[in-house]
Amino acid sequence: MVTEKYTRILGIGAYGPSRVVTNEQLSQTVDTSDEWIRSRTGILERRFGSDEQSTSDLALEAAQKALAHAGVLPDEIDLVLVATITPDMAFPSTACVLQHKLGLRKVACFDLEAACSGFLYALDVADSMLASGRYKKALVVGAEKMSSIMDWEDRTTCVLFGDGAGAAVLSKEGEGPALVGFYCGADGSNPSLLCQPAGGSALPASSETLSSRKHFLKMNGREIFKSAVRVMESSCRTLLEEHNLELSDVSLIIPHQANMRIVESLSQRLEVPMNKFYCNLERYGNTSAASIPLALNEAVQKKALSDGDLCLLVAFGAGLTWSSTIVRF
Ligand code: COA
Repeated sequence: MVTEKYTRILGIGAYGPSRVVTNEQLSQTVDTSDEWIRSRTGILERRFGSDEQSTSDLALEAAQKALAHAGVLPDEIDLVLVATITPDMAFPSTACVLQHKLGLRKVACFDLEAACSGFLYALDVADSMLASGRYKKALVVGAEKMSSIMDWEDRTTCVLFGDGAGAAVLSKEGEGPALVGFYCGADGSNPSLLCQPAGGSALPASSETLSSRKHFLKMNGREIFKSAVRVMESSCRTLLEEHNLELSDVSLIIPHQANMRIVESLSQRLEVPMNKFYCNLERYGNTSAASIPLALNEAVQKKALSDGDLCLLVAFGAGLTWSSTIVRF
């Protein structure tokens, strides 16, 4: 039986690795400068996991915090979703690895790949699975070790990304911010705009793919920039319209943390002032699927949202994919 009750965020947590790398430090090994990165992106520093840490280790740290914040025991979790494009390995899923590291019961676990939109896609999927009544408490994680797929010889991409993880415990039972609306979309017509070309079935790993550096992230930054602004605007408008809401009803927008200039363009197009956008990309860079939960967790910690506030989460990423979610506090 499908229930009508909203899914609640019982708890949230995030993890940024301790190794901080400033623009200045990057410019010692990459042909770039603090001035270029700062003015083109707004990024000041990013965090990188250690050589010993894989994506599941970052996910573990965030998940433990989310469980503690929710006051939920690991044994109560009956569904695990990990959104990532940097899984520990191609298979089995990082969600399965995380299940074991967290000491969970042998519950359903899978990864979801929607790049930077992954966490919001995962909220939508978890909401549907909870609505079926067959799952009671879901752990949803966005986790990335972007440093593992960055090409340190490509200054147009390697300065943009960082590592991190964020997690939420969701349930239809209990108290917490309510997930009141979801919207997901995608356009697969031009995957090469942002991709990791080699290592899959289309281009399996070979000495040629290694020497041509096709295992690293490739991006057409200008085209992605234009698409990002366009799809994030329409994604916000579509979801609010579906719920008979106006932008003026929204207290805070938490956008995907890729580039401050993208957020500024979005602010202009939506005619919403910048002080209504929550950003922390200056300290993390673009952490892909981890970006929204990292920012949401920080906004919650800083009490940037009060009871009754509507918060709009909006993401875009490789695919292209896009997604937005309305959360009522
Ligand atoms: N340091 C110094 N110079 C750099 C550089 C770097 N890290 N990266 C590129 N440049 C140079 C280029 O070589 C180019 O030089 P040229 O004019 O001599 O050829 C110049 O800077 C301008 O490059 P361009 O690519 O036109 O810059 P831009 O203003 O478009 O900014 C991005 C580049 C990547 C910051 C921007 O396109 C962007 O943010 N795109 C979206 C990326 C994104 O958010 N991706 C994630 C999606 S989830």
